[in-house]
Amino acid sequence: MGADETGPLAGKRALVTGASRGIGAAIARRFAEQGADVALAARSTGAIDALAEELGELGVRALAVRADMTDRESLRALMERVGHEFGGLDILVNNAGVLPQAKLAEEHDWADWDAAIGLNLSAPWYLACRAKELMGDGGVVVNNASTASYYPSRGLVAYNVSKSAMVMLTRVLALEWARDGVRVVGVAPGKIETDLVQPILRWTEKRGVPVNPMRRVGADHEVADLVAFLVSDRAAYITGVTVPIDGGELLTAGSEPGR
Ligand SMILES: NC(=O)c1ccc[n+]([C@@H]2O[C@H](COP(=O)([O-])OP(=O)(O)OC[C@H]3O[C@@H](n4cnc5c(N)ncnc54)[C@H](OP(=O)(O)O)[C@@H]3O)[C@@H](O)[C@H]2O)c1
Repeated sequence: MGADETGPLAGKRALVTGASRGIGAAIARRFAEQGADVALAARSTGAIDALAEELGELGVRALAVRADMTDRESLRALMERVGHEFGGLDILVNNAGVLPQAKLAEEHDWADWDAAIGLNLSAPWYLACRAKELMGDGGVVVNNASTASYYPSRGLVAYNVSKSAMVMLTRVLALEWARDGVRVVGVAPGKIETDLVQPILRWTEKRGVPVNPMRRVGADHEVADLVAFLVSDRAAYITGVTVPIDGGELLTAGSEPGR
């Protein structure tokens, strides 16, 4: 089936970071199906090249750009390339992220800290600001946060802090850019079936506790559907919020004293 030329995202130009697999790849697919041109950024060239080819067959423009989000020059070059190839931008999805190996706060070293903060927080700030310059009359930025934005977990200090700050980044940018027609929104996934979450799922299973009140792990396409709605004109009056998509996880967060 080809892209929907009359779809809600027809004619939009989008950049999705971390598009080589998992949630980012699902978002890129959904955007293309709904008619958007999509730039795919990640370090794994094989995966983004293959996805670009797949999406190109839908009849949209799909561009694979190798980029390391922890490298400032790479981020600059990414935005220059997207601006050059697309002649502007309507949608940015700050999705690339890392969940560092769990260890207590005092066991984190600078490399752990810098990797999580750089990829999960600093790159989204920088890319959002450069994207705004490409957005002309308006656009939408989506930040992929986490339920980890809202409650602490032992061993995840850098991840918790980076994702919590991302919620505030979303609010500040939304406030500053509302009058310019640029909306900034977030999503806060709970447990979604991807490579990233496997260590947490193994830990949850070992403890024999349900993963969330719905007792199921979410699918990447469920997050993609939410993001596709948030970037569409149907969500034109929504800005500054981060929407949980978590099977009810946040309803019970913190209900295990001593965890
Ligand atoms: N899965 C979940 O349950 C869950 C829950 C809450 C939030 N999230 C958030 O959702 C986002 C996507 O997660 P996911 O589960 O889809 O993870 P994933 O399957 O591990 O995918 C991560 C993506 O980020 C890219 N990436 C990692 N390091 C990068 C770097 N230095 N430069 C550029 N790209 C980089 C990876 O591509 P390369 O390795 O090819 O570079 C990959 O495309 C993350 O921000 C994560 O924190 C996920």
